[in-house]
Amino acid sequence: MRILTGALAALLALGAAWPAAAQPLLQPEQATGSQPKAAVHARRFMVAAANPFAVDAGVQALRRGGSVVDAAIAVQMVLGLVEPQSSGIGGGAFLLHWARAEKRLRGYDGRETAPAAARSDRFLDASGKPLDPPAAIANGRAVGVPGVLRMLEAAHRRHGRIAWAKLFDSAIRLAEQGFPMSPRLYQLLQAESTLRGDAAARALYYGSDGGPRPVGALVFNREYAATLRAVATFGADAFYTGVIAEDLARAVAAHRRPGDLTPEDLLRYRAIEREPVCGDYRGRRICSIGPPAGGVTLLQLLGILERTPFHRAAPGSVDALHLFSEAARLAYADRARYLADPAFVRQPVAGLLEFDYLESRAALIGERSMRRAAPGTPRGAPAMLGDSAAAEPAGTSHISIVDARGDAVAMTTTIESAFGSRIMVRGFLLNNELTDFSPLPGNGARAGRSDTRVAANRVEPGKRPRSAMSPTFVFGRDGQLQAVLGSPGGPAIITFVAKALVAMLDWGMDAQSAVALPNFGSRNGPTEIERGSAYEALAPALRERGHEVLLVDLASGTHVIERVEGGWRGGADPRREGVARGD
Ligand code: DON
Repeated sequence: MRILTGALAALLALGAAWPAAAQPLLQPEQATGSQPKAAVHARRFMVAAANPFAVDAGVQALRRGGSVVDAAIAVQMVLGLVEPQSSGIGGGAFLLHWARAEKRLRGYDGRETAPAAARSDRFLDASGKPLDPPAAIANGRAVGVPGVLRMLEAAHRRHGRIAWAKLFDSAIRLAEQGFPMSPRLYQLLQAESTLRGDAAARALYYGSDGGPRPVGALVFNREYAATLRAVATFGADAFYTGVIAEDLARAVAAHRRPGDLTPEDLLRYRAIEREPVCGDYRGRRICSIGPPAGGVTLLQLLGILERTPFHRAAPGSVDALHLFSEAARLAYADRARYLADPAFVRQPVAGLLEFDYLESRAALIGERSMRRAAPGTPRGAPAMLGDSAAAEPAGTSHISIVDARGDAVAMTTTIESAFGSRIMVRGFLLNNELTDFSPLPGNGARAGRSDTRVAANRVEPGKRPRSAMSPTFVFGRDGQLQAVLGSPGGPAIITFVAKALVAMLDWGMDAQSAVALPNFGSRNGPTEIERGSAYEALAPALRERGHEVLLVDLASGTHVIERVEGGWRGGADPRREGVARGD
């Protein structure tokens, strides 16, 4: 770990920010209406993702005998076209893979990295204060080296069955022949003010009157088609080297808030294979990806919850929401203190998930809300860490896939905020993932001038920002895969996934009902309840128990596939345009 220099420490002491937990949930990518959806059944294979065109591309790949990874590539390439606000080749992702025949679980990390030139004061203004989120996000400095293509290439090398070049056909065709503007994309374009500032994006998505092209109008993206052709023909190298890489770096440097990402940064990028993290909950085995992804916090939340009387609380009761949000608080407190890129900061993963440690954390939960949890001291915890203050504004998408062999993929993929950094290059948008770092390199909880602690999740060259993305599998007692899920939602991802899990595992709901259930939880700030949902009625009773309750739009996009008698059942989040389909 690097030691903070004197000058930087002084800068931090001046920096004013509120603790991460107290920050409002920034959700540029809001829910767009709520459409009732029915659970979908399939016998052999299934894809659940955020857009029907993307799902169909994945289903086609599976029909042709493709693997779950082949299908994921086809889905991702279409998502980058039809859901450009959320994910694409200009962003990063985590992919969890289950190979049934081998009984082998693998995690793939395609998270963005900070450029070699990045320094810890990257998101501070001249006076040492964090930049306002809009200024930090639409900013060349927010752009990390994209990881999606390198990660998919690595996964395809091991698990692909269809030739790489064939997996881009659906997306190329749709990009050239046009896709109809969806209601959701339309609404997000309308609400968006900065994207119009990018000439390429304006030409693609907006009409001459300055408004978005109407719903149903065909949107053509020939530049994206050309980019995909190059990647299909020459592999991910076509993206990470040569003219695309040069254009990418040039666009970042030419932005009115210039960044410092270079072609060499792109050349150096590597996807990483990571050992997944697993834990038990209600007799099931829950597996996800650990740091820099969100799996450890998910497992902590569940592990703490299991050690409370949650199983006796009625579904959707005050007791249930109380216990869930208290468990979440404790898990998020540890997240803010300890979790970051393991290549830069020692991660006390085993300590955070140990039996005794989870017991001691659960014992802190009482009848009344603790409001703010302090981080604990798990075994192996490095000293001298302060808290991360990352605001983590909410553009992400989740893909769940199972195939006829029983293999599965859960992939959560993002360009960070809706439309990322609002910089478009060759038909795709660049991420603003680096705003997932703590803007304050020191202790975000600001204990005072003498506090020289450093945030585990501060910016450092080559580092991956901490993520809440939690692609997740559930295994039964027999070791058989039972469910595949994940969600977007910025820092609230972990609570969205946990909510879907307790809805299925504790409350016996099917995948669709579990996804549709109102969202709730806490990120160690207020207790958050989904605005406009039936659970709003629980707010007064929670307040009586000491909770500071906030009614907010908790825009998940959870896509679940679960095993049922004779096949699979899928659920797609009613808050977005996704579907589950299969044969
Ligand atoms: O990696 C993360 O945790 C965030 N960048 C994810 C952002 C997100 O989920 C946006 N969702 N709507």
